[in-house]
Amino acid sequence: MSRSIQVLLGPPWPAEVVREAHVAVVDVLRATTTIATALRNGAAGVIPVTDPADAIALSQRLGRDRVLLCGEQEADRIEGFDLDNSPASFTPEAVAGKTLIMTTTNGTRALRAVSGSASVRAAALVNRTAVADALAHEYGDVLIVCAGEGGGFALEDAIGAGALVDALLTSISDAELRDGARAAALLYRCVATRLADAIASADHAQHLAHKGFAGDVTRCAALDTLDVVPILRDGILVAQ
Ligand code: MLT
Repeated sequence: MSRSIQVLLGPPWPAEVVREAHVAVVDVLRATTTIATALRNGAAGVIPVTDPADAIALSQRLGRDRVLLCGEQEADRIEGFDLDNSPASFTPEAVAGKTLIMTTTNGTRALRAVSGSASVRAAALVNRTAVADALAHEYGDVLIVCAGEGGGFALEDAIGAGALVDALLTSISDAELRDGARAAALLYRCVATRLADAIASADHAQHLAHKGFAGDVTRCAALDTLDVVPILRDGILVAQ
């Protein structure tokens, strides 16, 4: 039987659509890039939560000194939190061996929204081949979920999803692309030779650059720099 590959290009992410699928959540700028970086640099796990109040409540339950509170509002570190959402902050010195509780505007919400599916992984440009290889070893349909921006489409996530589709096509011989996947792959192929410029042109990239995070945009646009696959197990993203 062939395996369907679909992309949801933005929210909503209906439970009945995601339930049966092996899901990869894409938030290129910056949540899934940052999660991949954190796990690559030795974090024990990343717990995605929906908002800062949930993050604080969970940190109190687990023991405030036993976790790092991470995330952003308006791209900046949240007051009282240990780290922001910049991948540059998640150095081995900062995160090795630590459990991270993370809340971001779109990325962690998407991860929570699909937590009932067959499997959930965090994908970005930086780890797209690693995630594609892991998905190729599953049985069943693949659904790539773009976190998006402001409740809608985000260019960088559609490009990231297309890059993942492109890699999946090399490893799943009986793949059957659905329209969302076809559109994302076409978009990725249009910009593949000038990926950094295409990512930098996105609305959220410009917002980040304006706030002093241009370095993050460049870092998040790099393809296949990390070989880590974050997978959700019992609500915690760990390295597969
Ligand atoms: C998000 O989840 O919306 C992003 O990761 C925001 C950001 O760039 O920090």
